[in-house]
Amino acid sequence: PKIVYKTHEGKVYEVDVPSGRSVMLGATSQGVPGIDADCGGTLSCATCHVYVAQEWAEKLPPVEEMEDELLENTACERKSNSRLSCQIDVTDELDGLVVEIPERQF
Ligand code: FES
Repeated sequence: PKIVYKTHEGKVYEVDVPSGRSVMLGATSQGVPGIDADCGGTLSCATCHVYVAQEWAEKLPPVEEMEDELLENTACERKSNSRLSCQIDVTDELDGLVVEIPERQF
């Protein structure tokens, strides 16, 4: 599946990410800038914050409790479409998913 990452500066990266891999790893493994992912996906850093395009937001599994707590500590403002990208696993249904990377993660 293809995942579309938009940076704060307006650059667009389209990356083929294998099913089962997280949206976070899809970015960090391909050099997409702006997702720091300090904790490596273990749900303890909140530096993998993204804004999911509105039309996709409701297609994702709901935010779990730990993710919800961490989203309270993001560097950039939490919005209704904020997610932690390490908690979004790519599936065929998410082909074309668009996420925006916030200005900063710290
Ligand atoms: Fe640390 Fe997602 S990579 S919470």
